[in-house]
Amino acid sequence: MFDLYGYLENTSQRIEALFQEILPDDGSRIVKAMRHSMLSGGKRIRPGLCIAASEAVGGKADDVFQAACAIEMIHTYSLIHDDLPAMDDDELRRGRPTCHIAFDEATAILAGDALLTLAFETLSAIGCAGSKYAHKEIAAVIRMIAGAAGFKGMIGGQMKDIASEGVILEPADLQEMHAMKTGALIEAAVFSGSVLGGGTIEQTQALTNYARRIGLAFQIADDLLNVEGDPALLGKAVGTDEKRRKSTYPGVMGMEKAKHFAENMVEQALENLETFDERAEPLRAIATFIIERKH
Ligand code: IPE
Ligand code: IPE
Ligand code: MG
Ligand code: MG
Repeated sequence: MFDLYGYLENTSQRIEALFQEILPDDGSRIVKAMRHSMLSGGKRIRPGLCIAASEAVGGKADDVFQAACAIEMIHTYSLIHDDLPAMDDDELRRGRPTCHIAFDEATAILAGDALLTLAFETLSAIGCAGSKYAHKEIAAVIRMIAGAAGFKGMIGGQMKDIASEGVILEPADLQEMHAMKTGALIEAAVFSGSVLGGGTIEQTQALTNYARRIGLAFQIADDLLNVEGDPALLGKAVGTDEKRRKSTYPGVMGMEKAKHFAENMVEQALENLETFDERAEPLRAIATFIIERKH
C-alpha cells in the first residue's frame, strides 16, 4: 500500500530545505517571522499535491519543487493573516504561537506580505536563465497561482468568510466561499504540477476537476475538525467557528450530512483519476487522507 505519510514527510523535508536555502536566517526580525511560520511543520498538502500531479502525468518531483515551495509560501502567508486579531484572532497554529503572538501584529502583517511576494519571486525564477520550460508554461502557472490567491480566489473567499459571520448562507453560497478561500489554491497547486510535469490539456483538465472536488472536501474536513477534532493533534484551537458564528458545512447541514457530502466529493474526485495509471497513487491517497485526517 502507498505510504502517504512517508511521501508527505519527504515533501516536507525537501520544502523546508529549499526554503532554508531561499531564506536563510539573516538575524532580521522580518526574516525570523517568515521563518517562524514557514518552518513550523504543517501537513504540506499543497506542495504534496503539486508534486503528485506532476508525477501523475509522468513528470519528476524535482521539476516542480520550486513551484511547490512557492505555493506553500502563499498558503503560509494566508494563515498568518487569517490568524490576525482583525480576522480569526487565533493564538495557536501548527502547534506554536501564531506569528502575531510570537512577534507582533505589524510584523505578522509584513511577514505575510513578504511571503506572498517571495512566492512570486521564487515562481518566476523557474523561467529564468537555463529554464527547461517554455515561457508560455511558466506564464500560465504564474497566472493561475496569482488568480487563485487573489480577489477571485482566496482573498475573495476570505472576504466572504468574514462577511458571513453570523449569517446563514445558502448551500450554493457556502460552496462558492469554500471553493474560493481554500479550493482555488489547491486547484492551482494541482494545475501547476500537471503543466510543469508535461501533462496534456486533457490530463490537466481531469486533474483540475479532481482538485476542485478535493478542495471543497478539504475545507469541509477543516470545519468538521473544528467541531470534533483534537486540538493537540490539530495544533490549533477547536470550537472557534461556532464562537465566531462562522458559516460552515456542519453549521448549515449538520455533522452527518456534511461528512457524507465530503465523502461524496472525494469519491467523485477519485473518478476523475480513472484514466490515470499507478503514478496517480499519491493523488488517490491524498484524496482519501483529506477526509480521514485527524490533523
Ligand atoms: C488550514 O490548512 C487552513 C485551510 C485552508 C483549511 P491546512 O490544514 O493545510 O494547514 P497546515 O498547512 O497543515 O498547517
Ligand atoms: C482558512 O480558513 C482559509 C485560509 C487561510 C485561506 P479557516 O479560518 O477555516 O482555517 P483555520 O481553521 O483557521 O485553519
Ligand atoms: Mg478563517
Ligand atoms: Mg482561521
